[in-house]
Amino acid sequence: MYTTLHTDLTDHILTVTINRPDKLNALNKKVIAELDEVVTEIYVNKEIKSALITGAGPKAFVAGADITEFQGLTKEEGMALAKKGQDIFFRIASSPKPIAAAVNGFALGGGCELAMACHFRLCNLTARFGQPEVNLGLIPGYGGTQRLTQLVGKGRALEIMLTARMVDAREAHVIGLVNYIVEEPDELLSKTRELLSIINEKAPIAIAHIIECANIAAGDGAPAEEGWTANAGDPEIDPFGAGAGGPTGPDSATGPANTTGVRNGFLREQIAFGECFATEDMKEGAAAFLAKRKPVFTGR
Ligand code: COA
Repeated sequence: MYTTLHTDLTDHILTVTINRPDKLNALNKKVIAELDEVVTEIYVNKEIKSALITGAGPKAFVAGADITEFQGLTKEEGMALAKKGQDIFFRIASSPKPIAAAVNGFALGGGCELAMACHFRLCNLTARFGQPEVNLGLIPGYGGTQRLTQLVGKGRALEIMLTARMVDAREAHVIGLVNYIVEEPDELLSKTRELLSIINEKAPIAIAHIIECANIAAGDGAPAEEGWTANAGDPEIDPFGAGAGGPTGPDSATGPANTTGVRNGFLREQIAFGECFATEDMKEGAAAFLAKRKPVFTGR
């Protein structure tokens, strides 16, 4: 049972609500630990096809990492904190099942980073995004320097991070930080679920492969630890030599491996495309198209 999260599984969509509204849902150690747990639940629970993350209360998605826990940290402890946050957010980005952010109110610091680790973002008109760490003499530490740059480009990302200013919903939409603004008050969650329901009808293995390949293109999905490469040296999947990385299956509980690099992304796409032909779902999809009926995918 979670104490800082509320979860609800309906129609194969897990809604995860970060539930510390009196502290604007700031990410303290407990929330981070429970987010880690809930990500594992998303990976392993076969009833869950997709998930959305949102914040409790009218004011915030998440107003950042909990600043009260920063005081007195040493350099090493700061690094460890960033690694912990990054690792969990990598697991969100690497999830073989889609995870959407439904952003209400403030999404600042670690909140903006959490939203950006999700596969896509919807928000309502109350949303305010930002990376204000520089106001605290800090930098974004849960992947923000990387993912904001990936999503909105270097010039915009630098300006947002260096000024610490807030980006409202309309601007976030224009610059590609969010996919959709939900204009109707109170419809943010239902619209997010609607989008996830569309995806839930598609073939799960294909979905997992698409997420993995897109993560490679974006340089996302797993830590680039020094000296760490998945499947390096295996000529079947690593013809570009050590360091190029390689694929892992979509059902791993820890998520796909680090496979950054453009050449490797195209290679992974080739392999994953081939792997789809070995699935029952691919046969079902093609047969259903030819029979002019709706496919029924089983994830096999
Ligand atoms: N960490 C810890 N507590 C936080 C927090 C955070 N990141 N963000 C908000 N809170 C707490 C406040 O301390 C306050 O607690 P209190 O009632 O016990 O004093 C409560 O949440 C409500 O916040 P408050 O500042 O009173 O709300 P506001 O509407 O006046 O301002 C913000 C909202 C988001 C502008 C402001 O809270 C803020 O700047 N938060 C920090 C954002 C940030 O720097 N995030 C990056 C952290 S690395």
